[in-house]
Amino acid sequence: MVDRVEETDVLIVGSGVSGLFTAFKLADTHKIFILSKKQEYESSTYYAQGGIASVFSLTDSFEAHIKDTHKAGVNLCREDVVTFCVEEAPERIHELIDLGVQFSKRDGHDNEYDLTKEGGHSHRRILHAKDMTGQEIERALLQACHAHPNITFYEYHMAVDFILDDPLSEYPRCIGAFVFDQEQEQVFSVKASSVLIASGGAGKVYLYTSNPDVCTGDGIAMAYRAGARIANMEFMQFHPTCLFHPHAKSFLISEALRGEGGILRNHKNERFMEGTHPLKELAPRDIVARAIDAEIKKSGHDNVFLDMTHLDGEFLKDRFPNIYQTCLQFGIDLTTQPIPVVPAAHYTCGGIVIDEYGRTDIPGLYAVGEVSCSGLHGANRLASNSLLEGVVFAHRVVESIKVDPPSLFDGTLPQWDPGTAVDSDEAIVVSHNWDEVRRLMWNYVGIVRSNKRLQRAKRRLQLLKEEIDEYYWRVLVSSDLLELRNIVTIADIIVESALLRKESRGLHFTVDFPESDDQNWKVETIAHRPPKTKKRPKAWETPQMSTLPLLKKRKAHS
Ligand code: SIN
Repeated sequence: MVDRVEETDVLIVGSGVSGLFTAFKLADTHKIFILSKKQEYESSTYYAQGGIASVFSLTDSFEAHIKDTHKAGVNLCREDVVTFCVEEAPERIHELIDLGVQFSKRDGHDNEYDLTKEGGHSHRRILHAKDMTGQEIERALLQACHAHPNITFYEYHMAVDFILDDPLSEYPRCIGAFVFDQEQEQVFSVKASSVLIASGGAGKVYLYTSNPDVCTGDGIAMAYRAGARIANMEFMQFHPTCLFHPHAKSFLISEALRGEGGILRNHKNERFMEGTHPLKELAPRDIVARAIDAEIKKSGHDNVFLDMTHLDGEFLKDRFPNIYQTCLQFGIDLTTQPIPVVPAAHYTCGGIVIDEYGRTDIPGLYAVGEVSCSGLHGANRLASNSLLEGVVFAHRVVESIKVDPPSLFDGTLPQWDPGTAVDSDEAIVVSHNWDEVRRLMWNYVGIVRSNKRLQRAKRRLQLLKEEIDEYYWRVLVSSDLLELRNIVTIADIIVESALLRKESRGLHFTVDFPESDDQNWKVETIAHRPPKTKKRPKAWETPQMSTLPLLKKRKAHS
């Protein structure tokens, strides 16, 4: 038993844009702890290349941005959420600018931001910092948060599970979290009146992903184990263009390259998006990713190409310095050679169900950004709407905590009890199962699905869940084991959600139901942990699945 207990007002799990922006806005009145699994900057935000979408041009309009978001989301976005996100975006972005974020300006125009375009957008509306937008936002936010005495960073600390006041009751409240200190190899408890999950998505559930290693769906899996509803997990977005090279791990080739005129070609040099969609390379991502997948399967080649060679070389080097240099390191000069690309898992559109103030089903527990399912993205996220969702919802969580503050639990927090767990002598179980989950998800639950393949994945996952759960309770925790437990939970929810949706819509495409069915399936899929009857959760139990009509307002707790 470890008797370390820390106490704070707000515990934030994750240090990307959602966590940092919330922390910064609350810090004058609240004591904040921020947990990062690795270094404080290591998050999806840091690797975001494209930018942040918002109406900044006189020729653009809120109506157009709203329409584009609904169109990409294939009529499964929540209307109120889309409207307030689009309308509140400019104000939040001005706050980022005031905080020191330097977005690129138009050449020779000091007062005008350079707006770029990406797939599915009818106007140029994406603010960016060259091709390193996330890095610039992360830099400015970290600087601002470090300047605040009320914010404490905990690097190399991973949340294990949320602590509930009465885990067996129907309506428990979140009172803190168990946290694994990776350097001390010790789990301790943190008591907090509010806990914010801002830990990002679950791209690492798939073998190939644009996501950094930290994206193992921890926040979603923890919220699920705590009893919160998880929605729309069948909608995993595959980015059409990641660099294809044996030594390049997870390197994204931003959609902004296509926004500036990049052309997709197959090995016969044919422009295969012509005739596939009127917007060609700038069609929504689900369509481009499926077209590339089909090209790869048809031709037997491992990749297609993104051709930039017809564009001005000096412009490309200046506009995309990071992508240009990285490609060059792998021997590809994008100004003269087409870039080999493949699709890879990129963005988790589903997540923890939240209301319009970021509140989950569990009082005291909030979620913002990719970890959540707010209703903004529907069946497919519009490019560059993710940083936007992060800042809009961070602000709304802050309002909610300020107006309606949850109180600090006045009892004693439970302490972490390792029971009879011992040091692992079979680390191979963890690495083998990690690989198996990710490979089966890629092969059976990828861009194009079928009932047969989903059932196959389900059977394999059942065995893996039981084995991983048995191992989890037998050995002392490590971050690899905690992540493995989380990715198998997420994989299970994705498969169950995909099996439930008997239609194709946006990112969920199945050969068994190739059409969209608005009459029966304009609903969100919901996964819920079976009710807890004993103290020890049964990780191998299948999630309870249901659907939630889109028109029904989400229930909020606080
Ligand atoms: C990109 O730069 O292509 C990624 C932008 C996004 O995922 O929104």
